[in-house]
Parts: sequence; structure tokens; C-alpha cells
Amino acid sequence: MKKSKMTEDFNSTSQRKKEQLELCLTHNVNFKDKTSGFDYYDFEHYAITEVDIDKIDFTTFFLKKKIHYPFLISCMTGGITEAENINARLAAVAGELNIPIGIGSQRQSLENKDFNNSYKILRKEAPSIPILGNIGASQIIEMNNLDHVQYLVDIIDADGLVIHLNAAQELFQNMGVPVFSGLLKKLEKLVKKVNVPVIAKEVGAGISRKAAAKLLEVGIKGIDVAGAGGTSWTGVELLRSKNVNDDHFWDWGLPTSYCIKEVSKLKKVHKFILIGSGGIKTPFDMAKAFALGADIAASARVILQMLDKEDIIGVKNLIVDWFQVLKKIMFLTGTYTINDLHNKIILKEELH
Ligand SMILES: Cc1cc2nc3c(=O)[nH]c(=O)nc-3n(C[C@H](O)[C@H](O)[C@H](O)COP(=O)(O)O)c2cc1C
Repeated sequence: MKKSKMTEDFNSTSQRKKEQLELCLTHNVNFKDKTSGFDYYDFEHYAITEVDIDKIDFTTFFLKKKIHYPFLISCMTGGITEAENINARLAAVAGELNIPIGIGSQRQSLENKDFNNSYKILRKEAPSIPILGNIGASQIIEMNNLDHVQYLVDIIDADGLVIHLNAAQELFQNMGVPVFSGLLKKLEKLVKKVNVPVIAKEVGAGISRKAAAKLLEVGIKGIDVAGAGGTSWTGVELLRSKNVNDDHFWDWGLPTSYCIKEVSKLKKVHKFILIGSGGIKTPFDMAKAFALGADIAASARVILQMLDKEDIIGVKNLIVDWFQVLKKIMFLTGTYTINDLHNKIILKEELH
């Protein structure tokens, strides 16, 4: 049967991306009752701090490249006309601050080359920073020839590749593909095929310690927990499909703070990069992500909203301001490095 034009539009990768982007800017797609959990923690104040604030330096390495701040502009857009301009501006921020950036799903470029410039613009605007490619687990499962994945890396000269694990999103997406069977085996093959490290990332439902351990065992080199408490991708899809029956899944997922704390325990047995993301909306959230064990923090929607409101300068100021606040937190906790900050956090209930 021939599909109607409307159905085709609704299902096309590009149209879907456009609707998701719009919803993220026009609607409240935050988790409703669940938080990322950072509010349950307070910092361990250190009364005898001798830290010299001016000597705190955030310079570190990410995927072998020197970066100025341990902050990643999370994977968002690509594959639509609007993405070229958004990615150009985000890349300008990332380039200027010398921080890493992820691209939105490159699924569209597996279908045709129509929107390739929306991806390529990142490397064009920011020639030397770490850039992450991005593709979904469902696409990996569907792929007969994994060589296509190297193509995604090559067209943006990526330093790493993110595989997004979005089971809940696929489940509630109109015409989504909630089929992940064979995922770990496919990932095991994939990490050997591509010439850059592979990072596994959720999109807001979080990665548990158990799931992270299995991913690391098959050769994944980074875990971006992308936990619950920020943007609800179940929420976005429920809105898109006007599905009210499944509304109780809006808040599905493991809070970001829990995921970071749990996954960081795996550092005793595995060497990997732990990215703390999902609802990081303030410098305190970011600092707590570090204190719970993240090596690098990342945000998505808060960055997009700021870009929309105050353009490049707004996003740049936001990130620089967050790290100024972090310096104050580090002074008060008596710490010089992100590593020192690990564990300088207490559950508020223990303070009573
Ligand atoms: C407009 C928009 C588009 C997104 N597209 C992607 C994507 O293509 N691939 C991906 O891995 N994550 C994508 N995400 C998810 C984010 O990277 C992030 O994991 C999630 O939104 C939770 O972070 P937040 O609470 O800071 O928004 C997108 C997020 C936004 C806001």
C-alpha cells in the first residue's frame, strides 16, 4: 500500500528531528516529578582550606586532545536544514572555549547526503576540538555492513563515536524501533571496526552499573549516563504522538546522580571515561556530578535554550560562569582538581 504524504512526512528522519527540536524549545519536556537527584547532596565544607583560587586550572585531556574545561556540549542536532546554523554556532562556542562537542544522530546521512553539511559544519567551524559522532543502537542493529559506521566518523573527522541507547524513546516513538536484540554482540564487533573510541550514551533514562559493566566488557571506552531528571525523551515522544495513555512513563528512568555514583564504582576494574549528564542545569549540578565521580559533565537542552535566547555569547558565558562557580566550590571544599573533588559530597540526610 502506498503511504500517504502525511505519514511519510511524519516518519521521515528529517521531519521527526525537526519536530523534536521544536518541542524541546517550545514545550516543557522536563521530567515531571523525578529529579536528577543532585538536590539530595551537599558539599563537604572544608574549614581549613588553603586553596589558591587563581591556581585552579581545569585543563585536561579528552580523547587525547587537550581541552580547557571538562565540559561537553551534548549530542543534539543534525540531519535537518536548521541544524546547520545551530551546529555552526555551537561549534563556534566549543572552538572558542576549547571544549568537546557531540553531533546529533547521523542517521539521516545513512539515508542520503542531503543534509551532510549540517554535520560537516562542526569540523569546519572547530577544526581542532574533540568531536563526537552519533548513531542510535537501533540503527546499529539494523545495519548489515558495519563499515557504514566508519563513514559517519570520517565525514566529520570525529575523535570518538557515541552510540545512543534510547530504548524508552524508541518504545514510545510513533513508528519507533524498540528492537535491541543482539546489541552487545553488534557493539563488540563495532568497537573493533571503527578507528576511534566508542562511547555508549543514554538519552535521559540513565545507564545502570550492571548495563555499564556489560558495555565496558565488550570494549566500550566511555559511558555517558544521560540520566533522568532533565529532558524526558519519553515525554517528547508522548507529546509528538499525542499518546496520553502511556503518560505514566513520562518520568521513566534512573536519576543522573544515582547513575554516576554507581557507574563510577566500575573504575576499580575498568579504564573508561565517565560522562555525567542528564538534567545538569546549574553549576552546582555540574559540581555534584564531578563529586559523585564524573570525569566530564555534559548538558543538552539548557544549552539549546540559551543558544535560542542569547546566541553564541549566552552559551559561552553560561559555561564560563559555571566554571567560575566551580572554582568557588573547589576553594570551599579544599580541592584543586576534578579528581580531588570526587567524594567531597554528603547526602543531606546524613547531615542531620
Ligand atoms: C533537541 C535535542 C536533540 C537531541 N538529539 C539527540 C541525538 O540525536 N542523539 C543523542 O544521543 N542524544 C540526543 N539528545 C539527548 C541529549 O544528548 C541528552 O542526552 C538528553 O537531552 C539529556 O540531557 P539534558 O537533560 O541536559 O537535556 C538530544 C537532546 C535535545 C535537547
